[in-house]
Amino acid sequence: MLNILFVCLGNICRSPIAHGVLEAKIKSLNLTGKINVDSAGTSSWHRGEHPDPGSIEVCRKYGLDITGQKSRPVSTKDTEQFNYFIAMDKSNYWTLKNEYAIPDERLFLMRDFDPNKDGNRDVPDPYGMSDSAFEDVYKMIDRSMDGFLEFLKEKHPDIFRG
Ligand code: 4NP
Repeated sequence: MLNILFVCLGNICRSPIAHGVLEAKIKSLNLTGKINVDSAGTSSWHRGEHPDPGSIEVCRKYGLDITGQKSRPVSTKDTEQFNYFIAMDKSNYWTLKNEYAIPDERLFLMRDFDPNKDGNRDVPDPYGMSDSAFEDVYKMIDRSMDGFLEFLKEKHPDIFRG
C-alpha cells in the first residue's frame, strides 16, 4: 500500500481537489486498495470544515464528490505514515521540509509533475477568488496528477501490475 498526502495551507481549497482527483483516477485504474490518499493543511485554521464551495463546485462539474472531506492539519504522525507528501506551493513545501523534516525523496511540489511548464511551480491559492480561478486550479492539478501517476508507475511498478 502506498500512502499519499496532499498538502496546502487551509486544506479547504487546493489539496481537497487533489485528494478527490487522485482518488477518482485510482478508482478508474482499478488501483483501489493499493494507493491510499489523504490531504491536510499546514495550518489548523479550518479544522473540521468541509471543502470551500468553489472547490466543491468545480469538482462536481467534473463528476467528483468531495463533500465528505474535512480539513485537518498535518500531524507529526503523518511523517511516518505517508510515502509521499505533495505540496501545492513552495510555502507548504518549506513547512513540510523544515517543520516536519520530510526528506527530499518523499517531498514534491504538485507542479513538479505538470507537463505545462510556465516558470511558476506553485498551484495558486484560489481562496476568495472567482469560479474561473478554481477552474484553473482544477485543470492544473488534473494534468499534474497524470504526471504524478507516471512517476509512481516508474518508482513502484509492482503496484500497477494488477
Ligand atoms: P488552501 O486555501 O490552502 O488551498 O486551502 C486557503 C484557504 C484558506 C486560507 C488561505 C488559503 N485562509 O487564509 O484562511
